[in-house]
Amino acid sequence: MASVQYGVPRERVKVVREEDVLELGSKTLCFMEAPWLHWPETMFTYLKEDRVLFSCDFFGAHTAFGFYDDELEELMSFAKMYFGEIMMPFRSMGRKALEKVKEKDVKIIAPSHGPIYRNTEKILEAYSKWTKGETKEKVIIMYVTMWKSTEAMVNVIAKILFSEGIEVCLYNLANASIGDIAKDLVDSRGVVLGTPAVLGGMHPLALFGVYLVKALRPSLKYGVVLSSYGWGGGAVKQALEFLSPKKIEVIGTMEVNGPPSAEATEKIIELGKQLAKK
Ligand SMILES: Cc1cc2nc3c(=O)[nH]c(=O)nc-3n(C[C@H](O)[C@H](O)[C@H](O)COP(=O)(O)O)c2cc1C
Repeated sequence: MASVQYGVPRERVKVVREEDVLELGSKTLCFMEAPWLHWPETMFTYLKEDRVLFSCDFFGAHTAFGFYDDELEELMSFAKMYFGEIMMPFRSMGRKALEKVKEKDVKIIAPSHGPIYRNTEKILEAYSKWTKGETKEKVIIMYVTMWKSTEAMVNVIAKILFSEGIEVCLYNLANASIGDIAKDLVDSRGVVLGTPAVLGGMHPLALFGVYLVKALRPSLKYGVVLSSYGWGGGAVKQALEFLSPKKIEVIGTMEVNGPPSAEATEKIIELGKQLAKK
């Protein structure tokens, strides 16, 4: 990396491995391998005398605000977004690394992105949950609509889930940010995908939504697919092809011609109740 990115001559590079120690006079650096967080060769460095853990990308956050954790009120939200976007696919490696961190007497965590943690409890507790893939009674709804029929279907299920006491995060894929979706994928147990039929399949933005689910590998357990169509449909079939291999139990689907009728609305309410129960 040093040679490739910055042209550092090979002879100036000292390769370190697990448990190697570098004495720098009054300071001692101890190296810990923590691979795939999120690059193959990721390592942590522990500064023994000051009990500082330089954790590379692990515990990172994409924000330039706040030098220390206590200077930024919304830091956990940034940290969760970073976890969702970057670390979530590597949860099992994260769990191993977390065990290693617990073996050290860490006073300060200094990741390579975002503020330095001088209060480490909160982020360690959050990472313990996130790397285990713990989910909440929460449903993420991702949808796209051209003429608002799918939106009408989605609104029905959102309302019923909400009234059943489920935390609901609603994203219109036409303007949602990937970071926000990734953040809410971290601890959502259910997913609702809403898409109109376009050219015999899903709307391209809905494809983007299911691609995020495929790539980020959240711990979603249950799913519902809602679709409005004009003639032959096809969006639900394609959505199921994506969601089924993800070990998401799709508890129901609805395909409606145009906007939802009163009867279709009743069925969506029923689906919402089933999802809430799960
Ligand atoms: C570009 C375009 C492509 C479409 N392709 C299909 C299709 O392949 N099959 C189908 O049944 N309906 C198709 N439709 C019709 C829409 O799926 C239908 O109007 C639906 O009710 C729109 O839902 P929305 O109001 O949520 O956008 C298409 C509409 C558009 C604008």
